Amino acid sequence: MKKASIILDKDFVIGSIDKRIYGSFIEHLGRAVYGGIYEPGHESADELGFRKDVIEFVKKLNVPIVRYPGGNFVSGFNWEDSVGPVKDRPKRLDLAWFTTETNEVGLHEFATWAQKAGSDIMYAINLGTRGPEQARDIVEYANHPGGSKFSDMRIANGKKDPFGIKLWCLGNEMDGPWQMGQKTATEYGRIAREAAKMMKWVDPSIEVVACGSSSTDMPTFGSWELEMLDECYENVDYVSLHRYYGNPTGDTPGFLARTMDMSDFIKSVVAICDAVKGKKHSKHTVNLSFDEWNVWYHSNEQDQEIWKQDKWNRALPLLEDIYNFEDALLAGSMLITLMKNADRVKVACLAQLVNVIAPIMTRNGGGAWAQTIFYPFCHASVYGRGTSLNTLVDSPVYSCTDYDDVPYIDATATMDDDGNVTVFAVNRDMKEDYELSIDLRSFKDMTVKEHIMMHHDDVKAVNTEDDPDNVAPKQGPGGTVDSGRATVKIPALSWNVIRFGK
Ligand code: AHR
Repeated sequence: MKKASIILDKDFVIGSIDKRIYGSFIEHLGRAVYGGIYEPGHESADELGFRKDVIEFVKKLNVPIVRYPGGNFVSGFNWEDSVGPVKDRPKRLDLAWFTTETNEVGLHEFATWAQKAGSDIMYAINLGTRGPEQARDIVEYANHPGGSKFSDMRIANGKKDPFGIKLWCLGNEMDGPWQMGQKTATEYGRIAREAAKMMKWVDPSIEVVACGSSSTDMPTFGSWELEMLDECYENVDYVSLHRYYGNPTGDTPGFLARTMDMSDFIKSVVAICDAVKGKKHSKHTVNLSFDEWNVWYHSNEQDQEIWKQDKWNRALPLLEDIYNFEDALLAGSMLITLMKNADRVKVACLAQLVNVIAPIMTRNGGGAWAQTIFYPFCHASVYGRGTSLNTLVDSPVYSCTDYDDVPYIDATATMDDDGNVTVFAVNRDMKEDYELSIDLRSFKDMTVKEHIMMHHDDVKAVNTEDDPDNVAPKQGPGGTVDSGRATVKIPALSWNVIRFGK
């Protein structure tokens, strides 16, 4: 058996973990809303049409915040269309996803759903086809107590108390040619600054996220962040990062190494934020909101076929990636990367939550089930709270097409408020089990409480409605602690959650 080791120290801390790094995302896209969270007439629907089976899955994921209503969708969205009596709401062509948006679910309905699911809302405004004026108006509608045009409109629409939305996205992926109202970095930086100023004048308690690059692959990545922040640095609290990975060539070692890119991405954006801070002699620190991350590639061809046959229909089954076991391993590594960067990544959203590149799937009129990526997210969200510990990992490494020195063991650790320690580890080795030695001497009297492990012999194995537990966690081999040093077996190609306590 191969060996790797980890050294932990209770005083060797990266930072406290903002629970919002376990956020997710619901866009008016595909069957995320209609057929996902909302399906009136379904046997599990509540009196408002929300599927209770879906809410139960969301609750298991312990999602503290959900980004809404887009995504690309938001860049053509008029928030006024989504409030007031449902029968009066217009049907609109959504140019982001070539779908008809009926506006049956809008801000009020979504806020009710989010409350049922135990989540706050991270609300995205339209800075594509609209501007600071409408941004100011929606903050007034959502957060002002009353006595003004839009706050009184909210009250008239049945919501006396403000929604109290604290976190706002200033548009979405404004660097992308696919975006309605794409802008240059300087154009966007100016409009984001003016929108942020006016939104915060209406409600000074809010925080705002400026759009960073929509991927590291964008030719403007880096210069976009620099030029955009040069315009709005003092007015914004976070810069967004978006990243999706795929494995179209079936290269599992290369695919599992993609978090090397994610890590570089985070470090680069932190460096740029701090460079602008230095240039401006500012005391303000801009942190990161990794508000779209996941695996996304399985459904690309299928989506082209859907659009060929069925453009402009309602709730087209778009972006319905079916996730396999290796996708769960990469999702686990992506979560590890977020925890490792908890000092600067304060918000992150698994994109998305239901049906659309999602951990939870539903069938219209049928069941709901958990995809493979559901489990690492659930474990991280439930056990990865508290403090992120600087985790010194000594592991054999490998080379693949894009990277050298990829550690076979990708790991990090957290400590909760009661002093319990959790180690999260992915074994990227296709063949070899590892004996992992974990130095816990500074914690005193730790024992292994639980070893949760996920492995499947077939990296392409998936869960389906008929076989929902094909890829699911089980108890791992666990291990022992002797004089403060734990020894735990980590099987080849596995996701591991090792929980230590007294
Ligand atoms: O999450 C799906 C889409 O991916 C979002 O709408 C967009 O922001 C990104 O390109």
